[in-house]
Amino acid sequence: MNFTGKDIISIKDFSKKEINYIIEYATKMVPYAKGEKYKDILKGKVLSSLFFEPSTRTRLSFESSMNRLGGKVIGFSDPSGTSQKKGESLADTIRMADSYSDIIVIRHPQEGAARLAGEFAEAPVLNAGDGAGRHPTQCLLDLFTIHTEKKKIEKNNIVLLGDLKYGRTVHSLAYALALYGANLTFVSPASLRMPKEVINECTEMGVEPTQTSNLEKAVKDADVLYATRIQKERFPDAEEYNRVVGSYIINNNLLENAKKDLIIMHPLPRVTEIDPEVDKTPHALYFKQAFNGVPIRMALLSLVSGGTL
Ligand code: CP
Repeated sequence: MNFTGKDIISIKDFSKKEINYIIEYATKMVPYAKGEKYKDILKGKVLSSLFFEPSTRTRLSFESSMNRLGGKVIGFSDPSGTSQKKGESLADTIRMADSYSDIIVIRHPQEGAARLAGEFAEAPVLNAGDGAGRHPTQCLLDLFTIHTEKKKIEKNNIVLLGDLKYGRTVHSLAYALALYGANLTFVSPASLRMPKEVINECTEMGVEPTQTSNLEKAVKDADVLYATRIQKERFPDAEEYNRVVGSYIINNNLLENAKKDLIIMHPLPRVTEIDPEVDKTPHALYFKQAFNGVPIRMALLSLVSGGTL
């Protein structure tokens, strides 16, 4: 399987066979992600890390991945310090990054920005989240986490909870889980339901998601509970945000009737949707999930630049 030079824009760009290959490769990367082993397969490579929107996990795990494999990182975490401030176009910024580096990672508030970047760059472009659109590397690390913890992805009862309208991670994830034949339940306030096109994609792949607002009932049979933050920054109306924030809170009381081996995932950052008391329970997987961003991104950086372990 050859990923050299490939842009990673959407999880839909991958077949199930390719996703399985990436998961397998990421598994081999775990001791390198922990610093227990070292191999400089990205020595001499430079990554442009272009973050037009805030990030903790995605940016730092990409940078950690590059450093752990012997590569170097240039870039910015705040576009206000760049010539975008003087009116430079995204296309020209990408042309510059392309001439200074070998791989480009971009997070941008506009849906489609990463695909556009891919059109202007020779170097492989990795989408680190574009507006309410896609977040493919998050999706891959989520699949990697479920596969690692449950030994398989198919047939698990998976509940996606929270802001299913604006949450880009759940759009990519719902598609990918349907590709694997997982059983899907979507729990959200009525105004934040999963977009129809995502539901249609699941149905076309033979998976009929259940839609409900009853979290208590959904949690009882769940193998994986995937919670999301209400995406305040994407609401056109602050009053609408205030109406739905705090609709669902995962706490120990809710988990009393859950399966013993239920895992709780969250792309993070969390705000109020998971009570910190849950952190001490064996259900809490979200910090390990965030760590899994390193082996997955090490695998992707290595694959697109043609390096191998
Ligand atoms: N999960 C995720 O994308 O987190 P950051 O916004 O901190 O990168």
